[in-house]
Amino acid sequence: MALKKVNLPENFILGAAASAWQTEGWTGKTEKNMNYMDGWYKAVPELWHDGIGPTVAADLYNRYKEDARLMKEVGLNAFRTSIDWSRFIKDYETGEVNEEAVQFYNDYIDEIKKNGVEPMICLEHYELPLYLFEKYGGWGSKKVVDLFVKYAEQAFKHFGHKVKYWFTFNEPIVVQTRVYLDAIRWPYEQNTAKWMQWNHNKNLANAKVVKLFKELGLEGKIGAILNPEVTYPRSSAEHDKKAAYMYDLYFNRVFMDPMLKGKYPQDLINDLKKHNCMFDYTEEELEIIKNNTIEFLGLNLYYPHRVKARSTAWNEEIPFHPARYYELFDLPGKKMNPFRGWEIYPKIIYDIGIRLKEEYNNVEWIVAESGMGVQNEAQYKNEDGQIQDDYRIEYISQHLYWTLKAIEDGSNCKGYMLWAFMDNVSPQNAFKNRYGLVEVNLEDNRNRRIKKSGNWYKEVQENRSFELEIFENEYK
Ligand code: BG6
Repeated sequence: MALKKVNLPENFILGAAASAWQTEGWTGKTEKNMNYMDGWYKAVPELWHDGIGPTVAADLYNRYKEDARLMKEVGLNAFRTSIDWSRFIKDYETGEVNEEAVQFYNDYIDEIKKNGVEPMICLEHYELPLYLFEKYGGWGSKKVVDLFVKYAEQAFKHFGHKVKYWFTFNEPIVVQTRVYLDAIRWPYEQNTAKWMQWNHNKNLANAKVVKLFKELGLEGKIGAILNPEVTYPRSSAEHDKKAAYMYDLYFNRVFMDPMLKGKYPQDLINDLKKHNCMFDYTEEELEIIKNNTIEFLGLNLYYPHRVKARSTAWNEEIPFHPARYYELFDLPGKKMNPFRGWEIYPKIIYDIGIRLKEEYNNVEWIVAESGMGVQNEAQYKNEDGQIQDDYRIEYISQHLYWTLKAIEDGSNCKGYMLWAFMDNVSPQNAFKNRYGLVEVNLEDNRNRRIKKSGNWYKEVQENRSFELEIFENEYK
């Protein structure tokens, strides 16, 4: 074990992330401004941890000035959030904006910049308007794709001159995977073909918005934020490698290939056809996808996915699911975050970074989310009441270390964004697991207090370096 000093490269982005629906709260929204997440919470509030949902969230809508100051105090040089489509647009069909929301996002972005922090804006972090979900079936509909483009045009028109980093989607695979593939989220409908249609329509929407961005000649970058499930086979045996290949095809390459290479993998298309899950498309749509790939990628990276070949035969009578090809593999002795139930394996960042270099033309990218959710953090308060989250400092140090190592080995990574800037509402888990550099105290009027990790993050930013205990062999 050795203490190692690690330097951040020049211009390396060290920031943090959040999203609109998880922080803002409903101030200024009416029944007409609900999004899919709001709708899910309203349908089954009892399933959300302690019955808490996005209603108040972190109340950022009312406290953004204080929060922007805190961003500076914890040393962020960039902050990513989203625009809540359901708040920003008044008439989803025509794209008419809600002037009050325009004012809010203008002030919010200005305040972030005033504090020396670079804003990065995502257009959809699950905030699909509930109206479009109910009326058209959400992302299953091509009409919604075009309405998204209308919304994006308004966002670019209003904020394009002050925001230089844009993302179309955050984790575009997630909602439909939970809703239509695994049926564990409202409205709990298992429908694999619908799952794939949502995937395709989001790939199309991404390409159409990228096209628009280019046509408008906006300065800056546009990309998307994906959550590749960095996949490892149980063993080097062919059957396990095949399981990992299929997992990767269905959960990673389904977005990475069209968005970065402009084309779906042929194996995916063949397999979808075989299982009658091929999506509706036109040649023109495939052309749009082909000609509008992204040049800047955000990756949310939390934990590895380990798979093995199935040990039991797949029941062909149940609807097709990619799990036909794999079972999840539980690695004995793995290091865990026991609160969230996720394995801790910081080398995922390095591995995907090298993969981007080798297989995806070394695209420019950032770690768009990485972080550790911990339950009941109040138990770690010192006498003065500050949360002493040394575990988070260790987590960040190790993940940052592997990010920098990927850069050293030629990966085109430009930054690391922590999830999250402050504690906020998680899907269904609400405030159960806390992720922030800044505490949001629910017992005390949602008052903010910087955690130990927030002070440490600022030091890293100021020194442009940090020290960590590294056990490199652990990850060989
Ligand atoms: C990412 C999402 O998947 O993970 C965030 O972009 C989310 O919205 C974060 O909050 C952490 O996951 P969770 O479920 O613990 O909130």
